[in-house]
Amino acid sequence: MQRISKKTFGKLEDGTEVTEFTLRNAKGMTVRAIDYGGILTAVETPDRTGMAANITLHRDSLDDYLKGHPYFGCIVGRFANRIAGGKFSLDGKEYALATNDGPNHLHGGKRGFDKHVWKAEAAEKADSASITFRRVSPDGEEGYPGNLTVTVVYSLTDDNELRMDYTAETDKPTVLNLTNHAYWNLAGAGNGDVLGHELMIQADRYLPVDETLIPLGEPKLVADTPMDFNQPTKIGARIAQVEGGYDHCYVLTREKPEGLGLCARVVEPKSGRTMEIHTTQPAVQFYSGNFLHGSVSGGGVDYKKHFGFCLETQHYPDSPNKPDYPTTVLRPGQVYRHTTVHRFGVIE
Ligand code: GLA
Repeated sequence: MQRISKKTFGKLEDGTEVTEFTLRNAKGMTVRAIDYGGILTAVETPDRTGMAANITLHRDSLDDYLKGHPYFGCIVGRFANRIAGGKFSLDGKEYALATNDGPNHLHGGKRGFDKHVWKAEAAEKADSASITFRRVSPDGEEGYPGNLTVTVVYSLTDDNELRMDYTAETDKPTVLNLTNHAYWNLAGAGNGDVLGHELMIQADRYLPVDETLIPLGEPKLVADTPMDFNQPTKIGARIAQVEGGYDHCYVLTREKPEGLGLCARVVEPKSGRTMEIHTTQPAVQFYSGNFLHGSVSGGGVDYKKHFGFCLETQHYPDSPNKPDYPTTVLRPGQVYRHTTVHRFGVIE
């Protein structure tokens, strides 16, 4: 079988060509991604009757992506989530970042990793296919110190796993928090809201936030609150009790501190599609698509509120300003490594 193909997706204003890569596996799964932002444009999986659908929110052309979208499927960097006031200090030096979310810095700033063309290369193995994205983020980009060399590999295996391996190195001390911002709707992108999806997040604690979504401090127990997803629960079951909807960082309860650990499981009862996430990251941001309001479309459908959800595996938001949180500092000579695996399936 042919596992890899590629085609021109479009051209940027300056003439740079953007390529879309397609990965296929032996089980009928397809993953597509473009070298602009490493955006996942499609994840097609069969439902319980064998009918395939694209289950990640997407736009239909490069022009549409360039017009704007709320981080659909992209690589987020240098720092996923928020840094309070766009400021932090490291080794006694103050750094000022772009503020692009009210008073705060969000998802890498005005032109984050989602808005750059990456060097991309596809490769095939006996039981998988992958795309390797590479980019050097120059010293000072969006205010961050150090030349940062980043590699992100998306692999599709014959076990129906979409695996994302991140590595990075710097030549000056810096901070780093990489993730992917895919929005999921296991019933198919555009096929209604996700409130009926049953979600399990393996987390006993989460980070309460202020009105600008900056964590207040210590993680709090989810027990006896609408934040508790330890038992599979419909996303919509208690969402009305959470002001603004879910947009919170969950601290993962890990059996072992190292290696891949279970993060979340999602079941969409009508299609039967399931997704299980394993990660090496300490936390996951669960976002219930609260800011979607019908102004961005894909496949001819306007994505309305809660039409997709995100599970962004990452370090805690605002870590650079919170010395008690697990560190997000990367120093010369160290290698940043992070792996997140999405395993897709169906239930009867
Ligand atoms: C993340 C944030 C949300 C929102 C989305 C993009 O999930 O936590 O608050 O910014 O990205 O719209």
